[in-house]
Amino acid sequence: MPDGTPRINLVDPELYATGDPYVQWRWLRANAPVYWHEPTELPGFWALTAYADVRAAYRDAETFSSARGILLRPADHGADPGGGRTLALTDPPRHRDLRRLVDEWFAVRSVRSMEGEMREVTGRVVDQAVERGRCDFVADVAARVPLYVICKMMGVPAGEWERLFTLTSQAFGAGDPMARRFAHLEIMGYFETLAAEKAKDPGDDLVSVLATATVEGAPLSPDDVILNCDNLLVGGTENTRIAASGGMLALMRHPAQWRLLQDDPGLLPGAVEEILRWTSTATHIMRTATRPVEIRGHRVEAGDRVTLWLPSANRDESVFDDPDRFDVRRQPNRHLALGFGEHFCLGSVLARMELRLLYEEIAGRSLRVEPDGEPTMLSSIVVNGPERLPVTFAPGGPAPAVFN
Ligand code: HEM
Repeated sequence: MPDGTPRINLVDPELYATGDPYVQWRWLRANAPVYWHEPTELPGFWALTAYADVRAAYRDAETFSSARGILLRPADHGADPGGGRTLALTDPPRHRDLRRLVDEWFAVRSVRSMEGEMREVTGRVVDQAVERGRCDFVADVAARVPLYVICKMMGVPAGEWERLFTLTSQAFGAGDPMARRFAHLEIMGYFETLAAEKAKDPGDDLVSVLATATVEGAPLSPDDVILNCDNLLVGGTENTRIAASGGMLALMRHPAQWRLLQDDPGLLPGAVEEILRWTSTATHIMRTATRPVEIRGHRVEAGDRVTLWLPSANRDESVFDDPDRFDVRRQPNRHLALGFGEHFCLGSVLARMELRLLYEEIAGRSLRVEPDGEPTMLSSIVVNGPERLPVTFAPGGPAPAVFN
């Protein structure tokens, strides 16, 4: 292998926990932006790492289908059970029908109407962490607000939020795969019961919408309702938790940028965009080619898996000036962290507001947030970012740059 050529293996989870995937992505963008990744324990796939190619694939939902799954899976795991059934895993026209059911709930006007309540919840979560003085920012701060908000939208009674919080932490956190699976099954069971109740006595919430919905002329089956509830719960919590924590980590590592936000809260909306770009928590998104297609001279066959590496696209030097610089004043900032096109993140307005309120509440308290030990990064090829982020809170200005 010539000097400077990294060994390419994008599907080793350890790379994201302890390594630097940006070395491989940078090399791929420069030398092989359309790269055939040989099979490992996962089947072989095309890896697109350049911004223009990722965006072009995103634009063409007919050629690049979501219905066979949007994440790489070992071949022996079979097809994704949500394939063709959940919002994320359907193609038009069914996708548009499904999306129309819930779009209004996530529109700017609806999300704005929740701002006061979201700020109150965020303030309470931050106050509790500050009172304790030290915490794991991921579990104690970043995970709570998105979970409470999506639970409220879905019509989960407030008395059940803590139970759902514990279950989602078990299901999607680190730890024993068996325990994770059981927690996930319990979540599905919970939504099965809730959806049955809402079907009989609908309220003004998302589970009621799904439980009483008609798509393409037929009611959603109970299984489809549960799978879509799961899609909303996971979508609504996982990426926001990791982006919020990754953003805090970036701000601790760049105290001058944190100081800018403390001095001028008007910079926060732009800072949220930079945090989304910088953290790019959705590591890869997969599509399946529905017909033979050529990308930069490479022939992709019908049925081939085509993966879009969003963190790589968001550091593409042909699109972003000095892409490895974290800059809360970056303009323009047309990142792809929330996807693009047909499946553009349903919760984008909500996620942006959750992130803005969180940093607003912390910055507004003039807190000094400092690392309390090394963070742990997730060992996953699906989402990347902090798994644990121990911090201390104290009154005062920004944290010193103690780690890089
Ligand atoms: C920082 C936070 C978030 C990030 C980085 C993120 C990222 C993404 C990305 C990249 C996609 C596109 C998937 C694809 O192309 O197949 C997506 C779709 C989706 N997101 Fe988010 N998301 C976030 C927050 C949320 C929130 C708060 C919700 C609330 C429910 C949500 C719900 C969804 C759903 C349901 C989809 C599927 C949409 C569709 O297929 O039409 N996300 N998200």
